[in-house]
Amino acid sequence: MYFPPLRIGKLQADKPIIQGGMAIRISRASLASAVANCGGVGVIAASGLSKQELRDQIQEARDNITNPGGLLAINIMFAATEFDMIVNTAIEEKIDFIIFGAGFSKDIFTLGKQAGVPIVPIVSSPKLAKIAAKLGASAIIVESGEAGGHLGTCKSIKQLIPEIKDAVNEYNIPIIAAGGVTSGSDIIDMLLIGANGVQMATRFLLSEECDVHDNFKHLLLKAKEKDIVMIDSSVGMPARAILTDFSRKIIDGKIDRPKECGKCLKHCTGTFCIIKALEAARKGDLENGLFFAGQNVKKYNDIISVKKIFERLEQQAKSRLALL
Ligand SMILES: Cc1cc2nc3c(=O)[nH]c(=O)nc-3n(C[C@H](O)[C@H](O)[C@H](O)COP(=O)(O)O)c2cc1C
Repeated sequence: MYFPPLRIGKLQADKPIIQGGMAIRISRASLASAVANCGGVGVIAASGLSKQELRDQIQEARDNITNPGGLLAINIMFAATEFDMIVNTAIEEKIDFIIFGAGFSKDIFTLGKQAGVPIVPIVSSPKLAKIAAKLGASAIIVESGEAGGHLGTCKSIKQLIPEIKDAVNEYNIPIIAAGGVTSGSDIIDMLLIGANGVQMATRFLLSEECDVHDNFKHLLLKAKEKDIVMIDSSVGMPARAILTDFSRKIIDGKIDRPKECGKCLKHCTGTFCIIKALEAARKGDLENGLFFAGQNVKKYNDIISVKKIFERLEQQAKSRLALL
């Protein structure tokens, strides 16, 4: 036991590790339940799911969670048109807590309070962290410039954690570091600078339980520094992805604008269809997929079980602690 537990409202995860939500349909019931069974927080990415699919995913995860203290959350992008439907459905399904990012909602805190469901925002600035804490956030996920997917800052996690810790100090809520954390040693380093836990995503994508196509996993595994790029996403935010012909076209402004639109986003730049590109990535379509990954993806060289990931993280934490 080298990790302290993580408190979220009245709940407690045995290990201070949240598996980052990954849309579209990357972090689903299979991955989330495996993480919860190892004592971390399993997260179903809810962006892009229908009401019924979300219900089914939560139910399937619950059926597979055998750890009595295992926690299950959902992640939803505020930028999604169906944000309210997803939040209400998750509350109806008695989800343990709700994580949201890619934009900011004040109303969700009132909804969470009324339903007794903790709300955990993802923020990238001290200003927004303070607003969220004042509105009643049960914890704050601090996402840095090293993270995968959509980004709200280019600041490093080592810079952001102390700044945000300082900004919300008076509220006594947990701070969770997201972005670039790859090892047990990194987790200890985050705890030492004031975080109470971490959120990791790319590591869990490269697990046996993550049911994306093998092409996705192998593309990430062979990525070198030069293959990790920033694109302007149609969500209206920058995003980190792997360099492919598709992401190169986005960077060069040569991507064909979509002919039809399912209006999945409240505001879309219309340059390309994000939902189709992410869905194609999940299916392993190397031509049309957009493959998100964290900046430190190059540090991973294997696909292992979630259980093995946790064992390795604990081992690395033990070695790091021995050096203190
Ligand atoms: C493939 C992929 C998809 C992601 N999708 C989402 C998402 O839907 N919502 C979200 O809040 N964050 C998303 N993220 C960000 C992660 O949840 C997480 O905060 C971040 O990637 C952590 O950094 P790491 O990948 O270096 O561990 C995604 C990241 C990746 C790699």
